[in-house]
Amino acid sequence: MKDQEFISRKADHIRYSLSSEAEAVESGSLHQWNLIHDSLPDLNLSEVSLESDWFGTKKANPFFIAGMTAGHPDAKLINERLARAAHERSWAMGLGSQRRELDSEFKDSAVEAIRKQNPGLFLISNLGIAQLIEIHEKGSWGPLFDLLERSGASALAIHLNPIQEAIQMEGTPRFKNGGAALKELSSRIRIPLILKETGSGMSRGFLDRIVPISPAAVDISGLGGTHWGRVEGLRAGEGTLSHELGRTFANWGVPVAESILNAKAAFSAMKPGPMILASGGIRTGLDAAKCLALGAHAVGFAKPALEAALQGDRVLQQWMEKIESELRVAMFCTGSGSIRELGSDRIERRDS
Ligand SMILES: Cc1cc2nc3c(=O)[nH]c(=O)nc-3n(C[C@H](O)[C@H](O)[C@H](O)COP(=O)(O)O)c2cc1C
Repeated sequence: MKDQEFISRKADHIRYSLSSEAEAVESGSLHQWNLIHDSLPDLNLSEVSLESDWFGTKKANPFFIAGMTAGHPDAKLINERLARAAHERSWAMGLGSQRRELDSEFKDSAVEAIRKQNPGLFLISNLGIAQLIEIHEKGSWGPLFDLLERSGASALAIHLNPIQEAIQMEGTPRFKNGGAALKELSSRIRIPLILKETGSGMSRGFLDRIVPISPAAVDISGLGGTHWGRVEGLRAGEGTLSHELGRTFANWGVPVAESILNAKAAFSAMKPGPMILASGGIRTGLDAAKCLALGAHAVGFAKPALEAALQGDRVLQQWMEKIESELRVAMFCTGSGSIRELGSDRIERRDS
């Protein structure tokens, strides 16, 4: 893959994902769930704690910025802002695909600088399954582990994006042997391995199949927010096959709530099971509260974080503060003093 092609594709992704047409809002499922109101919570709002378990350690809150970008000029400023704010507020942060560093001589000094400037940040490296399969088939694991070392990665997310690769004009829809590649990675890696969708969610059958891989976490990234079939269709433009496919598959995937419940059921016999991270159309701290009550351990945001970061450090900080406050209010009004207490007895499905 040519460097220039990668750079311009990544700039396109930022541009098109900001369009409202790229979001599968009408297919989201969180509106079908209500948190149960408690008129007399036996606690004070100031006592509500957002403290969460994060791969065995405590973190001040259960949020992360989902991986979006890396390895091109526009990524530098966006990631610097996201990293600074995430570090300050104790959110975790994902990077976008770091594929360019494996495909060329490019070394991403911007990521190295982020790590140096934010030593306590939980920083998640990112690579696609198609690249992992290539590494597995060639048996060339060295460059991947060098990349993780250089990035100071706290964890590695492998993204699964069949709908995007199938519709993208220059896509790599080669997923055969993905299970074997993941199994080998899981046996070699020394930091948490996260299997991550990209907005089309996770079915029960898929989740059952990955149990033997024993990932440290899944990010179910469900249907209801940024949709990569739509983004690639928009990018390709009217009159192209990709555009037609993007329209046909505009709501392809498993909605967020169903994906969380699928993961909870699939991992119920594993003690301890993988962490369940939830992203995909989470737009408020109230959405986040619903995800936590359904069984997620942490909740992530991509598009809204990008929108805020593009407006500057102050707007980003204010947006994060709003998300945290919304979660706190939802917890107070359900009588949940801690994330652990915000469980399945605090949420119910609407009748219609
Ligand atoms: C501009 C942009 C670029 C993205 N690039 C990546 C990527 O490189 N790797 C990845 O795993 N996910 C990527 N994603 C997907 C997000 O991590 C997330 O799964 C998805 O956007 C759904 O979340 P949202 O509805 O909050 O946007 C990207 C999302 C956006 C908005």
